[in-house]
Amino acid sequence: MCYPKFPEECTSLLSKYLTPEVFDVLKDKRTSTGFTLNQAIRSGVEHPDSGIGVYAGDADSYPTFAPLMDPIIEEYHGFKPHSCHKINLKSNHFIPKILDPEGKYILSTRIRVGRNLKGYPLGPGISREQRLEVAQKVRQVLTVLPDDLSGMFYPLSEMEASIKRSLIKDHFLFKEGDRFLEAAGVNRHWPEGRGIFHNKDKNFLVWVNEEDQLRIISMEKGGDISSVYARLLKALRHLETTLEFEFDERLGYITSCPTNLGTAMRASVHIALPKLGERKKQFHRITKKHHLQIRGIHGEHSTSKEGIYDISNKRRLGVTEPQILHDLTEGVYALIHAEKQI
Ligand code: ADP
Ligand code: ARG
Repeated sequence: MCYPKFPEECTSLLSKYLTPEVFDVLKDKRTSTGFTLNQAIRSGVEHPDSGIGVYAGDADSYPTFAPLMDPIIEEYHGFKPHSCHKINLKSNHFIPKILDPEGKYILSTRIRVGRNLKGYPLGPGISREQRLEVAQKVRQVLTVLPDDLSGMFYPLSEMEASIKRSLIKDHFLFKEGDRFLEAAGVNRHWPEGRGIFHNKDKNFLVWVNEEDQLRIISMEKGGDISSVYARLLKALRHLETTLEFEFDERLGYITSCPTNLGTAMRASVHIALPKLGERKKQFHRITKKHHLQIRGIHGEHSTSKEGIYDISNKRRLGVTEPQILHDLTEGVYALIHAEKQI
């Protein structure tokens, strides 16, 4: 294996931190499940326009490739190598602020967390049989959820194309064919073992075997972050009684992409900011101050339409869940204020 060539214009964190020296130290290492450096960096090498460029094939990828992973994690989350992540999912400590009393700006709110089952490789390293086993275990647990959480699991392989299209259009289902995941080996054997669970109201959903084995999602129209979070906590409490998730003392919940470590939580609003959206500098100044990220109307790698943006927390590691909600709330408050002023 030779040192990969990155084009001059490449700005990925992989190209920044995979120096020839780091490469030399890591090139022959294998994790406990046999995952290699070559596999970990394939996505970023094939796609020089990656922001990050690496994926973990198992929990052991993080310590094994630490000379590469640690600086990437530090730059993305602002999390120092000697820090320790703390979770706070015990109760709903979050005190909401009324953000949009007339319902003029916030269209919908969504909070998701990523989880992977303890003892299995992650998406880039999992075998076909193991993936099916994970799907089977998760499905069994999902189909006995109580009350308002109860619903049905829909295997992707049995879903009609028109239903798939409409679930994607309405923001409920993952898109297919992400080229970064494809290069990382996450999409092998697609659509086998993949699926979506949702309750009757489609305000509680679980994606199975997409980028992570579980993406647990609570969402609804409007800006009631508290209600969305309460539903997510309730679901997590139920799922944790029967499923054990991959968790690390230092890095929190283990995910296939280093951007999702820690809380693995992305709390977002779809918000109409047609005027502020035209003032890029001011818009970015506010989001940066509150550690927020701007995405398009169909999520990552999509563009905004009609001045509607997906605003969410950027950091997931080294911050607690209530802190993330606090950052989002303060940031959205500032964004609405700025929009009103223009
Ligand atoms: P992830 O949330 O897993 O990081 P994406 O950015 O691809 O991944 O978003 C997944 C889907 O969730 C997309 O269809 C996106 O539009 C939708 N979504 C995200 N936030 C919201 C929200 N606040 N309201 C409605 N849909 C949302
Ligand atoms: N691998 C892609 C990149 O480096 C996505 C990284 C973050 N997004 C994610 N869905 N994990 O740009």
